[in-house]
Amino acid sequence: MSIKSYISGLGHYVPKKIMKNNDLSDFMETSDEWIYERSGIKERRVVEHHEKDGDGPSDLAIPAVKDALSMAKLDLQDIDLIIFSTAMPDYFLPGSGCLLQEKMGFPPIGALDIRNQCAGFIYGLSTADMYIRGGMYKNILVVCSEVQSSTIDYSNRGRDVAVLFGDGCGAVILSATSDDRGVLSSHLHSQGKYAKELWIEAPSAKMYPRLTNEMIKQGKHHLKMNGREVFKQAVRRFPEVIKECLEFNNLKVSDISLFLPHQANIRINNIVKEKLDFKDKQIFNNIHKYGNTTSATIPILLSEAYQLGKIRKDDLILVAAFGSGFAWGASIIKW
Ligand code: UT7
Repeated sequence: MSIKSYISGLGHYVPKKIMKNNDLSDFMETSDEWIYERSGIKERRVVEHHEKDGDGPSDLAIPAVKDALSMAKLDLQDIDLIIFSTAMPDYFLPGSGCLLQEKMGFPPIGALDIRNQCAGFIYGLSTADMYIRGGMYKNILVVCSEVQSSTIDYSNRGRDVAVLFGDGCGAVILSATSDDRGVLSSHLHSQGKYAKELWIEAPSAKMYPRLTNEMIKQGKHHLKMNGREVFKQAVRRFPEVIKECLEFNNLKVSDISLFLPHQANIRINNIVKEKLDFKDKQIFNNIHKYGNTTSATIPILLSEAYQLGKIRKDDLILVAAFGSGFAWGASIIKW
């Protein structure tokens, strides 16, 4: 019997502080109506901002990972590898995975950082799945954590991006099994010609010094997005990669029990739903509560769906994400 990887543990954590759409109108010209109509977002969570030593992604990860370990009934010593996905690492280096290893007291196991932005969970899941299928490891933590609020331009200049993103963390544990369940396949893509359509330009290793007061004045350290181009590509790539994943597994849209799409814009998800003919009951969204939490989005959604009793044994779960890079992908998991 071949080895597969299944999800044995799930957990998520979002900061306590809620920023509602109307709170954003205090800093910029925007409105609850504009944000909700254009994106489906009502509020997002943000960390408390401090000049020094606030919470980074490795801090948000701790409660999420504790919950995932407890659901899997595993101890720190049982985990063979940490895969840490973040678009917003605590530091330029070392990676947030190493920081989490120390903060939680894991044994000196490997810690691999993944930098694939919104698609980070799919890339992390696929990497963990391959290590487990190959027989190298038995239990792998895939943790996706984002503190994006500290890169946001909370002024009129940044309002198109500021209203969309939030902070949060989702964690899954993948474990080896010889049962007929687990990750069926993952399909990954990238297209770097669109790199500058959704990016943070500075600090950059291409510049000396990497960050100057001038760059800060120009706002080069803020997340920038060409929303229309991202939208256009997203509604094309989601259906494409979902079809690829379904065909690879000889499945149809109607075979999917639950589709958990990336949460960047509810309009994107509705278009994908219509293009592929998913039924309402097959899709779960939570963008109204958290906005876009980049790579943390899908594991948060998965963890909430599980807590709400939306996932049962033998269900086929489809996950798909698209974002900066551009990088995108999809996976199907048999529960
Ligand atoms: O996870 C990564 C992937 N990210 C995405 O998939 C996001 C994809 N893009 C989008 O979700 C949408 O393009 C946005 C939500 C970012 C924007 O929606 P849109 O319908 O494409 O609006 P737009 O960019 O065409 O802007 C419409 C208008 C503009 O004003 P003018 O030029 O028509 O006078 C903007 O300046 O809305 C204005 N605007 C705002 N107004 C109020 C932009 N941001 C805001 C705002 N509040 N926050």
